[in-house]
Amino acid sequence: MKSLPPLKRRLYSIASSQALHKDEVHLCVSVVSRELRGRRRRGVASGFLGFDALSYGPVEASIQTSHFRLPEDPRTPVIMCGPGTGIAPFRAFLQEREARGVKGPAWLFFGEQTAEHDFLFRDEMQAWLSDGTLTRLDTAFSRDQATKIYVQDRMRENAAELWRWFADGAHVFVCGDATRMARDVDATLRQMAASEGGLTEAQAKDWIASLARQGRYKRDIY
Ligand SMILES: Cc1cc2nc3c(=O)[nH]c(=O)nc-3n(C[C@H](O)[C@H](O)[C@H](O)COP(=O)(O)OP(=O)(O)OC[C@H]3O[C@@H](n4cnc5c(N)ncnc54)[C@H](O)[C@@H]3O)c2cc1C
Ligand SMILES: NC(=O)c1ccc[n+]([C@@H]2O[C@H](COP(=O)([O-])OP(=O)(O)OC[C@H]3O[C@@H](n4cnc5c(N)ncnc54)[C@H](OP(=O)(O)O)[C@@H]3O)[C@@H](O)[C@H]2O)c1
Repeated sequence: MKSLPPLKRRLYSIASSQALHKDEVHLCVSVVSRELRGRRRRGVASGFLGFDALSYGPVEASIQTSHFRLPEDPRTPVIMCGPGTGIAPFRAFLQEREARGVKGPAWLFFGEQTAEHDFLFRDEMQAWLSDGTLTRLDTAFSRDQATKIYVQDRMRENAAELWRWFADGAHVFVCGDATRMARDVDATLRQMAASEGGLTEAQAKDWIASLARQGRYKRDIY
């Protein structure tokens, strides 16, 4: 056993706000699981959290400070894109807004495979829509129809409105899959800047870089 390096820690977004749940930290974890040489292999940490943690007792954890934070001014429009487990920090954001009574513009893009089985936190999201904590919710359930629909398709359908939100100073947050989703969402935002703002490809690239420099484009992707 000594020849094995210690397990590396795994990061999970905090999916709750202490303003609403003072002594709790909620996580939203997807158990990584795949077939390898005829055997089903689970991810070490997500498999443990999903199947064994409850019978194990206290689990050691530490906290890493995140750059993912709501803008100071509650009137600043917030655009959140969190398909799959990427929803986690946005649930925390929305709990925080609920607890503080913040009703400024907030738009959430959420995607998963099916509405019936994978609409995470559906009831909470709908309640936040009703009470104005959340202004808009656009969902993309990829496997509910023959052709896949992803969050960036919803962004494309709403490009004009989205561009107005940016003109009003919106901050955009993207969380979840790094390899495919975040890359495609980034490309969609640049396309929006071209189609709605009349920017060239190079200008759209500069626009998104300048958003990031101003702290208005933040990503927590993995
Ligand atoms: C900032 C950040 C925030 C995150 N937030 C969340 C979150 O809120 N929710 C969430 O669910 N996840 C989140 N993650 C991902 C999380 O940290 C883990 O990466 C994820 O749970 C997988 O860890 P695991 O130990 O279960 O899988 P691992 O055991 O690390 O396995 C990962 C993959 O590698 C493969 N693999 C591992 N070892 C081998 C090997 N020897 N040979 C071949 N293949 C191998 C496995 O089959 C699997 O596909 C976040 C990551 C980051 C960086
Ligand atoms: N590399 C991979 O092949 C792979 C696969 C699964 C999970 N993961 C990893 O597992 C972890 C947890 O995943 P998760 O539960 O958060 O869900 P996820 O795998 O990110 O899926 C969430 C939703 O995003 C959709 N999606 C797939 N490709 C997309 C794209 N290019 N743009 C936008 N949306 C896209 C999925 O659709 P469809 O699934 O219907 O396409 C699904 O509806 C993440 O770390 C993720 O990176 C990786």
